[in-house]
Amino acid sequence: MATSIDVSDVHIYYGDFKAVEGVNMTVKARSVTAFIGPSGCGKSTFLRTLNRMHEVIPGARVEGKIMLQGTDMYAPEVDPVAVRRQVGMVFQRPNPFPTMSIYDNVLAGNRLNSKRMSKSEADDIVEKSLRGANLWNEVKDRLNRPGMGLSGGQQQRLCIARAIAVEPQVLLMDEPCSALDPISTAAIEDLIHELKTTYTIVIVTHNMQQAARVSDETGFFNLKAAGQPGHLVEFNSTKKMFTNPDNEATEAYISGRFG
Ligand SMILES: Nc1ncnc2c1ncn2[C@@H]1O[C@H](COP(=O)(O)OP(=O)(O)O)[C@@H](O)[C@H]1O
Ligand SMILES: [Mg+2]
Repeated sequence: MATSIDVSDVHIYYGDFKAVEGVNMTVKARSVTAFIGPSGCGKSTFLRTLNRMHEVIPGARVEGKIMLQGTDMYAPEVDPVAVRRQVGMVFQRPNPFPTMSIYDNVLAGNRLNSKRMSKSEADDIVEKSLRGANLWNEVKDRLNRPGMGLSGGQQQRLCIARAIAVEPQVLLMDEPCSALDPISTAAIEDLIHELKTTYTIVIVTHNMQQAARVSDETGFFNLKAAGQPGHLVEFNSTKKMFTNPDNEATEAYISGRFG
């Protein structure tokens, strides 16, 4: 099912430190939304609030409202584990479980959800997820080999397979290509294009060409000064952001005049 995310007046803290302030945006269903901005402006922090990963850090908290499929994901009755099942995450460094085979890596999330599966169900999930991550043809003959034996780009696609194996609605990606070579990066970008027909995707990238290539909409975050909270400066269609942004600071950042 297509899921949008509505963010209203979100403020994010680490203890007394306010890292991000006053974010409002709508992430559209089945599209790619990119977050860009200088280091330290809160892109990763904000991304982690979209699946309730921020609050696992001691002292960390979120104010405001984030609606996922018509439900406030921070409402007291909502189970954060259920939110994380609906909103999967892929990190900067590929992080397959080092002791697990390719096969078991794909199923790791499903097994955490403790659903009993028959062997044929498990096989189907593995194949479907690896196909979905454009990795099946490369690994189908060595599913029982360690996930760590794959190249970096393959490991990242394995992590994407693991994320989609639990059938989330949204995929969050935090600089998923920054540890990869250009060819592996292109493979992930192609994959993102395919995945957006099924999933709502939010990607943080420090690479503006990548944001321009893969996203439909872009949010530019910035800091007024060191030690100040980050904030969303502009949120617009990617085309507009990169040709005729509304905000001067966006223009300056995109044209490389700072950051
Ligand atoms: N675990 C943490 N504890 C305290 N402060 C943090 C933590 N993680 C990030 N920060 C701070 O929050 C701000 C935003 O960081 P981050 O979200 O990582 O920015 P970005 O991803 O845009 O580079 C920075 O000032 C950073 O130092
Ligand atoms: Mg970051």
